[in-house]
Amino acid sequence: CNSLVFCDCLVFLWLNGWSVTYTTQSICALKGSTVKLTCSYTYRIGHKVTSTFWFTKWGTGVEPEDLGQEPEYAGRLEYHGDKKNGHNLIITDLRERDSAEYKFRFKTDQNGKYIGSPGVTLSVTDLQVKVTGGHQDKTLTCITTCTLTDNPTYIWYKNGHKVKEDTSSLYSVYFSDADSYSCAVKGREDLHSPAVCQKCWSVIYTRQSICALKGSTVNISCSYTYPSYHEIKKAFWFTKWESGKDPEDLSSVPGYEGHIEYLGDKKSDCTLRIPDLRLSDSAGYRFRFITSGERFAGSPVSLTVTDVVLEMDPTSVSERENVTLTCRTKCTLDPITVYSWYKNGQPIPNSNTYSPVYRLFSVSSEDTGRYSCAVEGHEDLPSAEETLTVTC
Ligand SMILES: *[C@@H]1O[C@H](CO)[C@@H](O)[C@H](O)[C@H]1NC(C)=O
Ligand SMILES: *[C@@H]1O[C@H](CO)[C@@H](O)[C@H](O)[C@H]1NC(C)=O
Repeated sequence: CNSLVFCDCLVFLWLNGWSVTYTTQSICALKGSTVKLTCSYTYRIGHKVTSTFWFTKWGTGVEPEDLGQEPEYAGRLEYHGDKKNGHNLIITDLRERDSAEYKFRFKTDQNGKYIGSPGVTLSVTDLQVKVTGGHQDKTLTCITTCTLTDNPTYIWYKNGHKVKEDTSSLYSVYFSDADSYSCAVKGREDLHSPAVCQKCWSVIYTRQSICALKGSTVNISCSYTYPSYHEIKKAFWFTKWESGKDPEDLSSVPGYEGHIEYLGDKKSDCTLRIPDLRLSDSAGYRFRFITSGERFAGSPVSLTVTDVVLEMDPTSVSERENVTLTCRTKCTLDPITVYSWYKNGQPIPNSNTYSPVYRLFSVSSEDTGRYSCAVEGHEDLPSAEETLTVTC
């Protein structure tokens, strides 16, 4: 016990004169808003402060890193270090990953270092509308992941128009299918939540999966809906979406430029046409639209592009043997097609089959020749030819 007291006393003497005081220890702020962290500090008489900064990351054995040096904060930090008091750190355009404990550090000319710990806990939240309740009598709650500082006033919007202002985050409504609601916090109306609605946002495709022939043209039929008070800013198709990035409009992706045609309009049609299909066009295609303030994307439509391949078994036979020709595609064409068969570039009379298999029974030397096949409606896109050799 004695030694503990002795220790405490030593610590006290050493720290005497050194301190960092934060004005607020915990802040909950809206994503996109600006926050100000404030502190003041004291140090030992005789020392001279040589550097001051804020940091969040500090590994054992390494010096903490000045926030001003971190690329994630580039262009979003303002640091007002007036030598004595009010070391304000201002972070603008807050992101959710800015949530952290922020600490202030200073160093002096006599090798003195001090960190104000614990620091300021910053939590960044977005706004979401949660819908609960019965069939159409609903309770809407404007939710945040932390409790907003300064008892905010909530603002509610119905179909884009302000309908309510209240210190409670709850709102009871009769929710009809055509209506949409969003919420905001007074003073930052620009950072409103995404709108929620029962049925107003949709992308509908006629088919979720399409099998099409190489060289043919496909129309990916699509329609979309959104609340009428919104205005379409941008509507486009994409195939790749890297997380954290905006998907790229396919019509400006190298290789697709000038290849695809968007047949949609700014109201309800979003059909995409791809002429002269290539095997490399096989992908999941998704439609996305951006309105004044909202973004919405449909699920992917899977497009498989196939060529027609003739398989011959065997390719070299003796007379009176049988030969099987198979017309293969990578996916099942819709509607199920009729297959046509060709010898030396000419249709074989009465040879059309519903099955992709055609048999030559008991062949003779006259059956020697080049064979190919095609699917109905795409006779202009036949398979490559295979040569049959019949030996006597
Ligand atoms: C695709 O749509 C265009 C324009 O509406 C139409 O002219 C064309 O016939 C359609 N093509 C196919 C393969 O459905
Ligand atoms: C050819 O096919 C017919 C009918 O299936 C069969 O009877 C015959 O034995 C086959 N010929 C040979 C050589 O396999």
